[in-house]
Amino acid sequence: MTINEKQVLDALREVEDPDLKKDLVTLNMIRNLHIEGKRISFTVMLTTPACPMKEMIHNACVRAIHLLVSQEAEVEIEMSAEVTGRKPKDQVLPGVKNIIAVASGKGGVGKSTVSMNLAIALTRSGSKVGLMDADIYGPSLPIMSGLQGEQPMAHNRDGKQWIQPLERFGIKLMSIGFLVPQDHAIIWRGPMASKALGQFITDVDWGELDYLIVDLPPGTGDIHLTLVQHLPLTGAVIVTTPQAVALADARKGLAMFQSDAVKVPVLGVIENMSWFSPPDMPEKKYHLFGKDGGKDLSIEKGVPLLGQIPMVESLRTGGDIGVPAALEAEGLVAEAYLNLAGEVARQVSMQNSRTFDTVIS
Ligand SMILES: Nc1ncnc2c1ncn2[C@@H]1O[C@H](COP(=O)(O)OP(=O)(O)OP(=O)(O)O)[C@@H](O)[C@H]1O
Ligand SMILES: [Mg+2]
Repeated sequence: MTINEKQVLDALREVEDPDLKKDLVTLNMIRNLHIEGKRISFTVMLTTPACPMKEMIHNACVRAIHLLVSQEAEVEIEMSAEVTGRKPKDQVLPGVKNIIAVASGKGGVGKSTVSMNLAIALTRSGSKVGLMDADIYGPSLPIMSGLQGEQPMAHNRDGKQWIQPLERFGIKLMSIGFLVPQDHAIIWRGPMASKALGQFITDVDWGELDYLIVDLPPGTGDIHLTLVQHLPLTGAVIVTTPQAVALADARKGLAMFQSDAVKVPVLGVIENMSWFSPPDMPEKKYHLFGKDGGKDLSIEKGVPLLGQIPMVESLRTGGDIGVPAALEAEGLVAEAYLNLAGEVARQVSMQNSRTFDTVIS
């Protein structure tokens, strides 16, 4: 029995990426194909290391080869990833593949907590991640990252002064709170704040990133417009609690991104503080802010529900002491955030395949 390359590729043409709805060969995901007798090895290049469908795709490849090439084949597959994104040359933040805004409408629903822990979970999955705190009135990143009082360095490149982001937990971090004392930031109003933010966006040297998470201040005001005008956003995620008042504001946030003036794709809804389970009765769920409000909103608006995050004490304390809970090796929070990261990364990949309508380069 001799197996040739064409037979293998024909078999792999029968395996479809469930999200991108094209086969792996057309998507140019099959790399380094080697055949030696009945040993077949290749790499599957996914669009994100956080891909929740990794195992399923792996198994589908093995099945297709056994079924269509030879039952005897010994298949060895390396699952790897190359994050897709915009292909900018002369835009702002040219090394950043995807920029994701985290917004809410209502304050205090957990945008900053979600942004920080999502950034950690994406990093844990193997991606290069940055986190930008765009809340110039109430920056929370310095405390949440445990870097309060630290100051970023500046460097000169191509005749321009660049701000070097700080680094922690493998994530590049930047907040206006690292640049000016908080009581100074608070007095900025309207145009002044927008100008500061605009500069802040263009002067930070993020380098190469797969995902830049942007933690927005609450509301749908000037700051948000400044951001969407300055930043080529891949998409926005909307954080809400299940509570009616939060949902009403989340609807406004969603409408802003979807409006003709802004037109930023909404990647989905994250429901935060979905329930509380007492540590001594983990099987019990108390829906303190109502049940499934975020889920219902996602259905109403026809956007994905990216995840439901319970109320957990370590999410609050982790933010307060600067050691985010998604760093925990395992458990409820780590699991919830790794799943969330997978869903967000997946929606980004799908969005990119819609926007660029291309195969991976
Ligand atoms: N799932 C959760 N479980 C427990 N505490 C949480 C959870 N999510 C957020 N918190 C806590 O709720 C408070 C508000 O969260 P956070 O600061 O992230 O909200 P925010 O939307 O960024 O607020 P703002 O609108 O002021 O920027 C914080 O004390 C945070 O630690
Ligand atoms: Mg915040």
